[in-house]
Amino acid sequence: MELHFHGVSTLLTISLLLLLHRRSDSSPPPPFSCDAANPQTRTFRFCETTLSIHQRVQDLVSRLTLDEKISQLVSSAPAVPRLGVPAYEWWSEALHGVSGYGRGVSFNGRISGATSFPQVILSASTFDSRLCTALARYAIGKEARAMYNEGQVKGMTFWAPNVNIFRDPRWGRGHETPGEDPLVAGKYAVAFVRGIQGDIYNYGKVEGRQINNGHLQASACCKHFTAYDLDSWKGVSRFGFDAKVTKQDLADTYQPPFKSCIQEGRASGIMCAYNRVNGVPNCADYDLLTKTARGEWGFHGYITSDCDAVSIIRDNHKYARLPEDAVADVLKAGMDVNCGTYLKNYTKSAIQQKKVRESDIDRALHNLFSVRMRLGLFNGNPNKNIFGQIGPNQVCTQQHQQLALESARNGIVLLKNSANLLPFPKKTATLAVIGPNANNAHALLGNYEGPPCKSVEIFKALQGYASNVLYHNGCNDMGCTFADIGSAVGTAKKADYVVLVMGLDQSQEREDHDRVDLVLPGQQEGLIRAVAAASKKPVVLVLVCGGPVDVSFAKGDPKIGSILWAGYPGEAGGVALSEILFGEHNPGGKLPVTWYPKDFIRVPMTDMRMRPDPSSRYPGRTYRFYNGPKVFEFGYGLSYTKYSYEFMPSTPNTIHLNQLTPNSHQATDETSIIRSLSVSEIGTHNCEKLKFSTHVGVENTGNMTGKHPVLLFVRHETTSNINGRPSKELVGFESVSLDARERAEIEFVLDPCENLSTANEDGVMVIEEGYRYLVVEDKEYAINVVL
Ligand SMILES: *[C@@H]1O[C@H](CO)[C@@H](O)[C@H](O)[C@H]1NC(C)=O
Ligand SMILES: *[C@@H]1O[C@H](CO)[C@@H](O)[C@H](O)[C@H]1NC(C)=O
Ligand SMILES: *[C@@H]1O[C@H](CO)[C@@H](O)[C@H](O)[C@H]1NC(C)=O
Repeated sequence: MELHFHGVSTLLTISLLLLLHRRSDSSPPPPFSCDAANPQTRTFRFCETTLSIHQRVQDLVSRLTLDEKISQLVSSAPAVPRLGVPAYEWWSEALHGVSGYGRGVSFNGRISGATSFPQVILSASTFDSRLCTALARYAIGKEARAMYNEGQVKGMTFWAPNVNIFRDPRWGRGHETPGEDPLVAGKYAVAFVRGIQGDIYNYGKVEGRQINNGHLQASACCKHFTAYDLDSWKGVSRFGFDAKVTKQDLADTYQPPFKSCIQEGRASGIMCAYNRVNGVPNCADYDLLTKTARGEWGFHGYITSDCDAVSIIRDNHKYARLPEDAVADVLKAGMDVNCGTYLKNYTKSAIQQKKVRESDIDRALHNLFSVRMRLGLFNGNPNKNIFGQIGPNQVCTQQHQQLALESARNGIVLLKNSANLLPFPKKTATLAVIGPNANNAHALLGNYEGPPCKSVEIFKALQGYASNVLYHNGCNDMGCTFADIGSAVGTAKKADYVVLVMGLDQSQEREDHDRVDLVLPGQQEGLIRAVAAASKKPVVLVLVCGGPVDVSFAKGDPKIGSILWAGYPGEAGGVALSEILFGEHNPGGKLPVTWYPKDFIRVPMTDMRMRPDPSSRYPGRTYRFYNGPKVFEFGYGLSYTKYSYEFMPSTPNTIHLNQLTPNSHQATDETSIIRSLSVSEIGTHNCEKLKFSTHVGVENTGNMTGKHPVLLFVRHETTSNINGRPSKELVGFESVSLDARERAEIEFVLDPCENLSTANEDGVMVIEEGYRYLVVEDKEYAINVVL
């Protein structure tokens, strides 16, 4: 090891030596460019950190040969030794904690686990953006850096978050997302991206030091762009699926999370999806990648394909005739890097056939190397960089594990609690825990998981809460093709209280596997009913699952006293659940998706329409458009205490749009006689002036402290979907902690151009005249919008 520390004090030299020494003891140092110890690379302009990233990247790209350039267009980018540039792996994952999925991360080293947060669907049900920012910033992003510094991460570009709309309850990957609402998905995207990137727009400092604009703790990637929410259903595969999407649905459902992710979150990456949208494969869609994302939304980062999404353009979609055509399609559309090997194999011949120009490649390389530079990977040895000091002792810290517990606690949703069965009394003698998900710590992690810091089965976490905890698995596995009902009933009969831990796992809902029904698998329902009927007291049903299940039978059964939905609650899920069952924590989570009745499956999963079509009995999707029967509603969730709400009278009753735009022609929709004005006609400046506040009073009228998300909706005067408008729409949410009898006021700033507008059939946002109602639980406040 050669070290050059001219003019550095001996003490510092020694401490740096120790630091480097420590590394060489365990794993190789992380890959970095511009090693100051290398006299050759030192002279390169792209290593000069005083220059702008733009200048540095231009210098670097100008030094590459065509073959070197082509080699960099795939996710496993090789080294360029003559320039001192190491290999780079673009594909790392960190959906809800640093994960071993992907190629960039290895847990084979000094760091063998990372904090495993609840699967995203459960973090979303906290309706707490600050919590989501905190877990991404202080835990996931930091742990990723620590692993990089330790040489266990070969690329700091993480392909999370997944912010597709959870459109259909059968989707096998729905649990990876923040749910069905575009506002929640957008807010989650912003919280996660800013958090993990260590965003300087939100926070001027990292580790107490001011950092420059654009520097990244880790790089986030919003995926899968766009309208991707079908994996494999009844023979329809994501690789060949052509999603038929209306302009209206695109404008107010599919695109908003990506727009927020880019504009507000300033994501440094996006991933184009496998599917086609209206005939065009996403990765070959110039309008989507270049015009919309880069042009309209100001995206500047890199665009990756989903893995092998380039080859399928020809092989599955039959959109391109030759491999070189597929290569030309994606490079000209604006994609920068191919997860896979296709571009390595066919770009040279595409150039020879004059289908691709070298400038198309240069553009891609510029985006790619910009992100690597923003990550600080071209600043010499990371020891001296701002994030270089994050060591392995910052992985799985008490603080991070506490955040995982807090997210699980605040996410878990209480769906039923008859006769206040819960919380259980502290001095319970015998508790029976029944069901396969109670004895499987790994299932609590969901997918895209990493090895957790520690993991505890639910039934083990419950030990200590009762003098005697009995366990019976009930079913052979989650599919429950065989249930040992007689013996499970025997166990239940011995107990004072019974908890059934049922639901789904990855065998039922996973990547490349959608469900075909909405009921609990196999014999689960029979087992639950039998155990409930035989138990001394009503039982508690805990559902560990991502997507919703139709548990109407349990809702109506008086012997099933309580129902809890626990998502996939992560490494601390068992502890969080125990605390809730025994009243150490008051549940406050709310459902981020609609729970449909089982006959919803008559709707083809391939039908992308959000809006209902009464003429064909198409019911529409999500709480915004679906007005049919529900098992549980979006936003539903009980607590051990009670809350009351009021709108403060300071909220305006009338919004006058015409005063602001006296000369603008008012658009009249002649078919519907509802007059409207487009948001672009009103203009950004006037939109700003139209903003107003509403204050909502919320009081904890019960006896127990609680953390409570307040959801503010807007609905139109009638609930019918005239002009395709939503029945109601979430416009804001805020979580408050209130002691018993405590009251707080929450201010929501509303922007009529965003919050009172709807997309018309051309995908144009318009504000219609007429009444709107602000809604919080059972309280409403009328506002008249006058043109
Ligand atoms: C690229 O070429 C390699 C080596 O010939 C081959 O193994 C790989 O399958 C090819 N990839 C694609 C996507 O055609
Ligand atoms: C609160 O506690 C009091 C006395 O302990 C009890 O009478 C009352 O019913 C409780 N209220 C609620 C809402 O639980
Ligand atoms: C409502 O407006 C706020 C800005 O005041 C914005 O952050 C939010 O995204 C808007 N919500 C919707 C659903 O448009």
